[in-house]
Amino acid sequence: SHRSNAREGILVGCGNPLLDISATVPMHFLQGYGMKEDDAILAEERHMPIYRELVENYKAEYLAGGSVQNSLRIAQWILGQPKVAVFFGCVGKDNYADILREKAREAGVDAHYQVSTDTPTGTCAVLITGTHRSLCANLAAANKFTIDHLKQPANKALVDNALYYYISGFFLTVNPPSIMSVAATANAKQRPFLMNLSAPFISQFFMEPLLKVMPYVDIIFGNEAEAHAFATTQGWPADADLREIGKRLVALPKINSARPRIAILTQGCDPVLLIQHDTVQEFEVTRLAVHEIVDTNGAGDAFVGGFLSQYVQDKSLDVCIRCGNYAARHIIMNPGCTYSGEPDFVE
Ligand code: AP5
Ligand code: NA
Repeated sequence: SHRSNAREGILVGCGNPLLDISATVPMHFLQGYGMKEDDAILAEERHMPIYRELVENYKAEYLAGGSVQNSLRIAQWILGQPKVAVFFGCVGKDNYADILREKAREAGVDAHYQVSTDTPTGTCAVLITGTHRSLCANLAAANKFTIDHLKQPANKALVDNALYYYISGFFLTVNPPSIMSVAATANAKQRPFLMNLSAPFISQFFMEPLLKVMPYVDIIFGNEAEAHAFATTQGWPADADLREIGKRLVALPKINSARPRIAILTQGCDPVLLIQHDTVQEFEVTRLAVHEIVDTNGAGDAFVGGFLSQYVQDKSLDVCIRCGNYAARHIIMNPGCTYSGEPDFVE
C-alpha cells in the first residue's frame, strides 16, 4: 500500500470551505454578468442570481471546493492515511455544510469548522466555457470566520501540534488576524509557513494584508497571472518575466532570514519554476493531450496538494514538485478537483 509515515495533525490549513456549483454555460451567460472566461472573482450583489440560474437552467454539478480544502484533500489522497491534515474554516448550518463535512471525512481531512448559525455555507460558481473556467465565489459563511475559533483550546492545541502551515491568499479577504496569528506561531516555533497568491484580485485589492504576512512566508506559490498581478501592483518593471518576478518575490523582507523564502511558480503545461536565492530551476510538465483533459479546474490546488503530501514527509523540493505535477495531471483528467482510484506516484 502507499500509506505514508506522516503523523496525524502534522499539517494545518485555513481557508474558505466552499461548495462548487459547476456547469458548462454559453459565452453570453458570462457576458450577462460582466465576467471574463478565465477569471476568479468574489460575488457582488449583481452576481447573486448566478447560483440559482445554474441549478435551474443548466446541468449543474455539486463538488467539494475551496482552494485550501482542495489541496488538503489531494494531499490526503496521496498520503493514504487519515487526519494528517487539519482544516479550519467557517460553514453554515445547512445541507451544503453536511456535504462538505462528508467530502472532507471521505478524503481523510480532519476538518474543524466554525459554524455560523445565520449565514449559509459559501458556494463557488464554476462557469465552464470550452476549456476555460470562470470562478465566482460567494463566501457567505466562509467570510464569518473569526480568530476566536483558533483560540478555542482544542483548536489551539491542533495549531500548536502541527509542524507545517498552509493558508491561501484567498483567506486574506476573510480574516488577516487569524493568518497573522498562525504565521507568528510558525515563526516562533521555526516551522514552515506556506502561502498562495491565489488569484490576481488578491494582489490587486488585498496587497496591504498580503505584504504584512509576506515576511513570515517561507514558501510562496502562484501561477503566471497571479505573479504578474503581484508584480504590477508592486510597480516592478513591466518587462519583468516570471523568473525575475520570482527572484523579487524571494527577496522581499523576511523575519526569519536564516531560512530564505522559496517561490514556486506554475505556468500551465510549461515548466514549474523553483526560485531560491537568485537561482531558478525548471521542472518539466508532461503535457496532456487535449482529449485527456476533462477540466483544469483545481489544477493549481492539486499541485499544492501533491507538493504538501511530500513536504510533510520531509522529502526534497525536487520530489515535492514532481508530486505536485503528478497530482495536477491526475486532477485535470477528472472533473473539478476530484481524484479517482489509488495514487501511483513514484519518487
Ligand atoms: P481554480 O483556480 O480552478 O483552481 P486552481 O487550482 O488554481 O487551477 P487553475 O486551473 O487555475 O490552475 P493554475 O492556473 O493555478 O495552475 P496552472 O495552470 O499553472 O480554482 C478551483 C477552486 O478555487 C474551486 O474549487 C473554488 O472553490 C476555489 N475558490 C475560488 N474562489 C475562492 C475563494 N475566494 N476562496 C477560496 N477558494 C476559492 O497549472 C498547475 C499545474 O497543473 C502545472 O504546474 C502542471 O503540473 C499542471 N498542468 C496544467 N496544465 C497542464 C497540461 N496541459 N498538461 C499537464 N499538466 C498540466
Ligand atoms: Na479537474
